[in-house]
Amino acid sequence: MVDSLKKPGFEEMRPGVKVPSKETLLTPRFYTTDFDEMARMDISVNEDELRAILEEFRVDYNRHHFVRDAQFEKSWDSIDGETRQLFVEFLERSCTAEFSGFLLYKELGRRLKDKSPLLAECFNLMSRDEARHAGFLNKAMSDFNLSLDLGFLTKSRSYTFFKPKFIFYATYLSEKIGYWRYITIYRHLESHPEDRIYPIFNFFENWCQDENRHGDFFDAIMRAQPQMLNDWKAKLWSRFFLLSVFATMYLNDIQRKDFYASLGLDAREYDIHVIKKTNETAGRVFPLMLDVENPEFYQRLDVCVKNNEKLTAISNSGTPKFLQFFQKAPIYLSHGWQLLKLYLMKPIDAVPAHGQAR
Ligand SMILES: [Fe+2]
Ligand SMILES: [Fe+2]
Repeated sequence: MVDSLKKPGFEEMRPGVKVPSKETLLTPRFYTTDFDEMARMDISVNEDELRAILEEFRVDYNRHHFVRDAQFEKSWDSIDGETRQLFVEFLERSCTAEFSGFLLYKELGRRLKDKSPLLAECFNLMSRDEARHAGFLNKAMSDFNLSLDLGFLTKSRSYTFFKPKFIFYATYLSEKIGYWRYITIYRHLESHPEDRIYPIFNFFENWCQDENRHGDFFDAIMRAQPQMLNDWKAKLWSRFFLLSVFATMYLNDIQRKDFYASLGLDAREYDIHVIKKTNETAGRVFPLMLDVENPEFYQRLDVCVKNNEKLTAISNSGTPKFLQFFQKAPIYLSHGWQLLKLYLMKPIDAVPAHGQAR
Protein backbone atom coordinates (compact mmCIF):
# COMPACT_ATOMS: atom_id res chain seq x y z
CA MET A 1 0.00 0.00 0.00
CA VAL A 2 1.31 3.42 -0.87
CA ASP A 3 1.00 6.07 1.80
CA SER A 4 0.13 9.17 -0.15
CA LEU A 5 1.34 11.45 2.65
CA LYS A 6 4.80 9.93 2.73
CA LYS A 7 5.30 9.26 -0.97
CA PRO A 8 3.28 11.82 -2.84
CA GLY A 9 2.82 10.97 -6.48
CA PHE A 10 6.19 9.32 -7.18
CA GLU A 11 6.57 6.10 -9.10
CA GLU A 12 8.85 3.50 -7.52
CA MET A 13 11.04 0.92 -9.32
CA ARG A 14 11.24 -1.11 -6.12
CA PRO A 15 9.80 -0.29 -2.73
CA GLY A 16 11.50 2.93 -1.58
CA VAL A 17 13.50 3.38 -4.80
CA LYS A 18 12.28 6.22 -6.93
CA VAL A 19 11.98 5.95 -10.72
CA PRO A 20 14.43 8.65 -11.90
CA SER A 21 12.64 11.67 -13.35
CA LYS A 22 12.52 11.84 -17.14
CA GLU A 23 15.50 13.31 -18.94
CA THR A 24 14.73 16.63 -20.57
CA LEU A 25 16.74 19.59 -21.81
CA LEU A 26 16.47 21.04 -18.32
CA THR A 27 17.53 18.02 -16.22
CA PRO A 28 21.16 17.54 -15.10
CA ARG A 29 23.28 16.02 -17.84
CA PHE A 30 25.84 13.20 -17.77
CA TYR A 31 29.03 13.83 -19.73
CA THR A 32 31.78 11.97 -21.46
CA THR A 33 34.77 13.36 -23.37
CA ASP A 34 37.82 12.65 -25.49
CA PHE A 35 40.10 11.19 -22.82
CA ASP A 36 43.14 10.94 -25.10
CA GLU A 37 42.95 14.57 -26.06
CA MET A 38 42.74 15.47 -22.39
CA ALA A 39 45.73 13.27 -21.57
CA ARG A 40 47.81 15.00 -24.26
CA MET A 41 47.15 18.46 -22.85
CA ASP A 42 50.28 20.35 -21.84
CA ILE A 43 49.54 22.05 -18.53
CA SER A 44 53.07 23.23 -17.78
CA VAL A 45 52.33 26.99 -18.04
CA ASN A 46 50.08 26.79 -14.99
CA GLU A 47 51.44 23.72 -13.27
CA ASP A 48 52.36 25.52 -10.01
CA GLU A 49 48.82 26.70 -9.45
CA LEU A 50 47.44 23.24 -10.25
CA ARG A 51 49.87 21.68 -7.75
CA ALA A 52 48.75 24.14 -5.08
CA ILE A 53 45.13 23.18 -5.74
CA LEU A 54 46.01 19.49 -5.53
CA GLU A 55 47.57 20.13 -2.10
CA GLU A 56 44.30 21.74 -0.98
CA PHE A 57 42.31 18.74 -2.25
CA ARG A 58 44.66 16.42 -0.34
CA VAL A 59 44.05 18.27 2.94
CA ASP A 60 40.42 17.18 2.62
CA TYR A 61 38.84 19.90 4.77
CA ASN A 62 35.44 18.22 4.69
CA ARG A 63 36.60 14.74 5.68
CA HIS A 64 34.37 14.82 8.80
CA HIS A 65 31.73 17.21 7.59
CA PHE A 66 29.13 14.97 5.97
CA VAL A 67 27.89 13.14 9.05
CA ARG A 68 24.18 12.82 9.66
CA ASP A 69 23.85 14.03 13.23
CA ALA A 70 20.97 14.24 15.71
CA GLN A 71 19.22 17.00 13.74
CA PHE A 72 18.06 14.39 11.23
CA GLU A 73 16.70 12.00 13.82
CA LYS A 74 13.05 12.80 13.66
CA SER A 75 10.07 12.18 11.43
CA TRP A 76 9.79 14.53 8.46
CA ASP A 77 6.08 13.96 7.95
CA SER A 78 5.61 17.60 8.94
CA ILE A 79 6.86 18.42 5.44
CA ASP A 80 3.86 17.18 3.51
CA GLY A 81 1.69 17.68 0.43
CA GLU A 82 3.17 19.68 -2.38
CA THR A 83 6.12 20.92 -0.31
CA ARG A 84 7.15 17.32 0.26
CA GLN A 85 6.96 16.63 -3.46
CA LEU A 86 9.06 19.72 -4.22
CA PHE A 87 11.58 18.71 -1.57
CA VAL A 88 12.03 15.26 -3.05
CA GLU A 89 12.41 16.79 -6.52
CA PHE A 90 15.01 19.25 -5.27
CA LEU A 91 16.98 16.50 -3.53
CA GLU A 92 16.77 14.28 -6.62
CA ARG A 93 17.96 16.99 -9.00
CA SER A 94 20.80 17.95 -6.70
CA CYS A 95 21.79 14.34 -6.13
CA THR A 96 21.74 13.62 -9.87
CA ALA A 97 23.88 16.68 -10.61
CA GLU A 98 26.42 15.78 -7.91
CA PHE A 99 26.48 12.19 -9.06
CA SER A 100 27.05 13.23 -12.66
CA GLY A 101 30.14 15.13 -11.46
CA PHE A 102 31.28 12.07 -9.56
CA LEU A 103 31.02 9.81 -12.63
CA LEU A 104 32.83 12.18 -14.95
CA TYR A 105 35.66 12.97 -12.51
CA LYS A 106 36.05 9.32 -11.53
CA GLU A 107 36.38 8.27 -15.16
CA LEU A 108 38.84 11.08 -15.86
CA GLY A 109 40.89 10.06 -12.83
CA ARG A 110 41.01 6.51 -14.12
CA ARG A 111 41.82 7.32 -17.75
CA LEU A 112 44.49 9.95 -17.02
CA LYS A 113 46.23 7.97 -14.30
CA ASP A 114 49.34 7.03 -16.27
CA LYS A 115 49.47 9.85 -18.78
CA SER A 116 48.75 12.90 -16.67
CA PRO A 117 49.11 11.98 -13.00
CA LEU A 118 48.66 15.49 -11.59
CA LEU A 119 45.30 15.99 -13.29
CA ALA A 120 44.32 12.39 -12.54
CA GLU A 121 44.80 12.87 -8.82
CA CYS A 122 42.86 16.14 -8.85
CA PHE A 123 39.97 14.43 -10.63
CA ASN A 124 40.04 11.51 -8.20
CA LEU A 125 39.90 13.81 -5.20
CA MET A 126 37.06 15.82 -6.72
CA SER A 127 35.17 12.60 -7.38
CA ARG A 128 35.65 11.76 -3.68
CA ASP A 129 33.92 15.05 -2.80
CA GLU A 130 31.08 14.58 -5.30
CA ALA A 131 30.47 11.03 -4.06
CA ARG A 132 30.02 12.43 -0.56
CA HIS A 133 27.68 15.15 -1.79
CA ALA A 134 25.57 12.74 -3.84
CA GLY A 135 25.48 10.18 -1.03
CA PHE A 136 24.44 12.79 1.52
CA LEU A 137 21.60 13.97 -0.72
CA ASN A 138 20.47 10.42 -1.41
CA LYS A 139 20.40 9.76 2.34
CA ALA A 140 18.31 12.90 2.74
CA MET A 141 15.84 11.51 0.19
CA SER A 142 15.47 8.46 2.40
CA ASP A 143 14.14 10.77 5.14
CA PHE A 144 11.21 11.11 2.73
CA ASN A 145 11.05 7.32 2.24
CA LEU A 146 12.60 7.38 -1.22
CA SER A 147 16.06 7.05 -2.69
CA LEU A 148 17.79 6.81 -6.06
CA ASP A 149 19.43 3.68 -7.42
CA LEU A 150 22.67 5.34 -8.54
CA GLY A 151 23.93 2.16 -10.21
CA PHE A 152 20.80 2.08 -12.33
CA LEU A 153 21.22 5.76 -13.15
CA THR A 154 24.80 5.11 -14.31
CA LYS A 155 23.61 2.51 -16.79
CA SER A 156 20.33 4.02 -17.92
CA ARG A 157 21.17 7.69 -18.51
CA SER A 158 22.40 8.96 -21.84
CA TYR A 159 25.82 10.62 -21.89
CA THR A 160 26.54 13.86 -23.74
CA PHE A 161 29.91 13.95 -25.51
CA PHE A 162 31.80 17.22 -25.16
CA LYS A 163 35.34 17.91 -26.33
CA PRO A 164 37.63 18.74 -23.38
CA LYS A 165 37.40 22.49 -23.79
CA PHE A 166 33.61 22.37 -23.62
CA ILE A 167 33.81 20.11 -20.59
CA PHE A 168 35.94 22.79 -18.93
CA TYR A 169 33.58 25.67 -19.74
CA ALA A 170 30.55 23.65 -18.61
CA THR A 171 31.98 22.13 -15.43
CA TYR A 172 33.68 25.38 -14.41
CA LEU A 173 30.32 27.15 -14.59
CA SER A 174 28.37 24.40 -12.93
CA GLU A 175 30.82 24.31 -10.01
CA LYS A 176 30.77 28.08 -9.58
CA ILE A 177 27.01 28.39 -9.94
CA GLY A 178 26.70 25.49 -7.48
CA TYR A 179 28.85 27.43 -5.04
CA TRP A 180 26.68 30.55 -5.33
CA ARG A 181 23.44 28.56 -5.09
CA TYR A 182 24.49 26.77 -1.90
CA ILE A 183 26.03 29.77 -0.17
CA THR A 184 23.04 31.99 -0.98
CA ILE A 185 20.60 29.49 0.57
CA TYR A 186 22.93 29.09 3.55
CA ARG A 187 23.27 32.84 4.17
CA HIS A 188 19.53 33.35 3.83
CA LEU A 189 18.77 30.65 6.42
CA GLU A 190 21.47 31.99 8.68
CA SER A 191 19.61 35.29 8.91
CA HIS A 192 16.13 33.63 8.89
CA PRO A 193 16.39 30.65 11.28
CA GLU A 194 12.58 30.36 11.24
CA ASP A 195 12.85 29.12 7.63
CA ARG A 196 15.16 26.23 8.51
CA ILE A 197 12.65 23.47 7.90
CA TYR A 198 15.15 20.71 7.10
CA PRO A 199 18.77 20.34 8.32
CA ILE A 200 20.57 19.59 5.04
CA PHE A 201 20.90 23.31 4.36
CA ASN A 202 22.97 23.73 7.54
CA PHE A 203 25.70 21.73 5.78
CA PHE A 204 25.90 24.04 2.78
CA GLU A 205 28.55 26.43 4.11
CA ASN A 206 31.44 23.96 4.13
CA TRP A 207 29.93 21.98 1.29
CA CYS A 208 29.95 24.92 -1.10
CA GLN A 209 33.66 25.41 -0.40
CA ASP A 210 34.23 22.06 -2.12
CA GLU A 211 32.40 23.40 -5.19
CA ASN A 212 34.40 26.61 -5.02
CA ARG A 213 37.69 24.67 -5.00
CA HIS A 214 36.49 22.48 -7.87
CA GLY A 215 35.65 25.63 -9.81
CA ASP A 216 39.13 27.01 -9.08
CA PHE A 217 40.64 23.82 -10.44
CA PHE A 218 38.86 24.31 -13.78
CA ASP A 219 39.82 27.98 -13.74
CA ALA A 220 43.48 26.91 -13.39
CA ILE A 221 43.16 24.28 -16.10
CA MET A 222 41.72 26.79 -18.56
CA ARG A 223 44.58 29.18 -17.77
CA ALA A 224 46.95 26.34 -18.58
CA GLN A 225 45.32 26.29 -22.04
CA PRO A 226 45.21 30.02 -22.87
CA GLN A 227 43.91 29.32 -26.38
CA MET A 228 40.66 28.23 -24.71
CA LEU A 229 40.20 31.74 -23.34
CA ASN A 230 41.64 34.30 -25.65
CA ASP A 231 40.50 33.90 -29.24
CA TRP A 232 37.23 34.87 -30.94
CA LYS A 233 35.90 31.33 -30.61
CA ALA A 234 36.46 31.44 -26.85
CA LYS A 235 34.36 34.60 -26.74
CA LEU A 236 31.49 33.00 -28.64
CA TRP A 237 31.61 29.81 -26.60
CA SER A 238 31.83 31.47 -23.23
CA ARG A 239 28.75 33.54 -24.14
CA PHE A 240 26.99 30.38 -25.17
CA PHE A 241 27.82 28.49 -21.99
CA LEU A 242 27.05 31.41 -19.68
CA LEU A 243 23.66 31.86 -21.30
CA SER A 244 22.76 28.18 -21.31
CA VAL A 245 23.72 27.70 -17.67
CA PHE A 246 21.84 30.83 -16.56
CA ALA A 247 18.74 30.15 -18.68
CA THR A 248 18.53 26.51 -17.59
CA MET A 249 18.70 27.44 -13.93
CA TYR A 250 16.21 30.27 -14.30
CA LEU A 251 13.62 28.16 -16.15
CA ASN A 252 14.00 25.32 -13.67
CA ASP A 253 13.80 27.46 -10.56
CA ILE A 254 10.91 29.71 -11.56
CA GLN A 255 8.94 26.59 -12.42
CA ARG A 256 9.63 25.40 -8.84
CA LYS A 257 9.22 28.74 -7.10
CA ASP A 258 7.07 27.10 -4.41
CA PHE A 259 10.09 25.10 -3.26
CA TYR A 260 12.11 28.29 -2.73
CA ALA A 261 9.06 29.90 -1.10
CA SER A 262 9.02 27.05 1.45
CA LEU A 263 12.51 28.26 2.48
CA GLY A 264 11.31 31.86 2.57
CA LEU A 265 13.12 32.71 -0.68
CA ASP A 266 11.72 34.45 -3.74
CA ALA A 267 12.92 32.21 -6.60
CA ARG A 268 13.29 35.09 -9.03
CA GLU A 269 15.31 37.28 -6.66
CA TYR A 270 17.38 34.27 -5.65
CA ASP A 271 18.21 33.43 -9.26
CA ILE A 272 18.97 37.02 -10.19
CA HIS A 273 21.44 37.16 -7.30
CA VAL A 274 23.06 33.81 -8.18
CA ILE A 275 23.34 34.79 -11.86
CA LYS A 276 24.88 38.17 -11.02
CA LYS A 277 27.46 36.58 -8.72
CA THR A 278 28.32 33.70 -11.05
CA ASN A 279 28.65 36.12 -13.95
CA GLU A 280 31.10 38.27 -11.95
CA THR A 281 33.08 35.21 -10.89
CA ALA A 282 33.25 33.91 -14.45
CA GLY A 283 34.48 37.30 -15.61
CA ARG A 284 37.75 36.62 -13.76
CA VAL A 285 38.63 33.86 -16.19
CA PHE A 286 36.34 34.16 -19.24
CA PRO A 287 37.09 36.94 -21.71
CA LEU A 288 33.60 38.39 -21.18
CA MET A 289 30.52 38.53 -18.99
CA LEU A 290 26.87 38.76 -19.99
CA ASP A 291 25.02 42.01 -19.48
CA VAL A 292 22.76 40.56 -16.80
CA GLU A 293 22.04 44.01 -15.30
CA ASN A 294 20.18 44.95 -18.46
CA PRO A 295 16.40 44.55 -17.80
CA GLU A 296 16.04 43.05 -21.29
CA PHE A 297 17.90 39.97 -20.04
CA TYR A 298 15.20 38.96 -17.57
CA GLN A 299 12.34 40.21 -19.75
CA ARG A 300 13.34 37.71 -22.40
CA LEU A 301 13.90 34.92 -19.90
CA ASP A 302 10.43 35.61 -18.49
CA VAL A 303 8.93 35.13 -21.96
CA CYS A 304 10.67 31.73 -22.02
CA VAL A 305 9.16 30.90 -18.61
CA LYS A 306 5.69 31.74 -19.98
CA ASN A 307 6.38 29.66 -23.08
CA ASN A 308 7.34 26.73 -20.89
CA GLU A 309 4.09 27.00 -18.98
CA LYS A 310 2.15 27.01 -22.27
CA LEU A 311 4.07 23.95 -23.52
CA THR A 312 3.31 22.05 -20.30
CA ALA A 313 -0.38 22.99 -20.52
CA ILE A 314 -0.55 21.72 -24.12
CA SER A 315 1.22 18.46 -23.18
CA ASN A 316 -1.27 17.89 -20.36
CA SER A 317 -4.32 18.91 -22.39
CA GLY A 318 -5.20 15.53 -23.86
CA THR A 319 -5.23 17.04 -27.38
CA PRO A 320 -4.10 14.49 -30.02
CA LYS A 321 -0.32 14.53 -30.49
CA PHE A 322 -0.34 15.78 -34.11
CA LEU A 323 -2.51 18.75 -33.14
CA GLN A 324 -0.24 19.44 -30.20
CA PHE A 325 2.62 19.75 -32.67
CA PHE A 326 0.89 22.65 -34.42
CA GLN A 327 0.04 24.28 -31.11
CA LYS A 328 3.61 23.95 -29.90
CA ALA A 329 5.49 24.98 -33.04
CA PRO A 330 4.99 28.77 -32.68
CA ILE A 331 5.98 28.55 -29.02
CA TYR A 332 9.22 26.78 -29.89
CA LEU A 333 9.86 29.48 -32.47
CA SER A 334 9.32 32.21 -29.88
CA HIS A 335 11.60 30.33 -27.50
CA GLY A 336 14.35 30.07 -30.07
CA TRP A 337 13.95 33.74 -30.98
CA GLN A 338 14.25 34.88 -27.34
CA LEU A 339 17.34 32.76 -26.79
CA LEU A 340 18.90 34.04 -30.01
CA LYS A 341 18.24 37.65 -28.99
CA LEU A 342 19.70 36.90 -25.56
CA TYR A 343 22.78 35.39 -27.15
CA LEU A 344 23.22 38.43 -29.36
CA MET A 345 22.95 40.95 -26.51
CA LYS A 346 26.17 42.92 -26.29
CA PRO A 347 28.40 41.25 -23.68
CA ILE A 348 30.78 43.03 -21.30
CA ASP A 349 34.49 42.81 -21.98
CA ALA A 350 36.07 41.22 -18.89
CA VAL A 351 39.69 41.24 -20.04
CA PRO A 352 40.58 44.73 -18.69
CA ALA A 353 39.54 43.57 -15.19
CA HIS A 354 41.62 40.39 -15.29
CA GLY A 355 44.82 42.03 -14.07
CA GLN A 356 43.07 43.51 -11.01
CA ALA A 357 41.16 40.35 -10.13
CA ARG A 358 44.28 38.21 -9.99
FE1 LIG B 1 29.43 18.70 -5.34
FE1 LIG C 1 31.85 20.02 -7.36
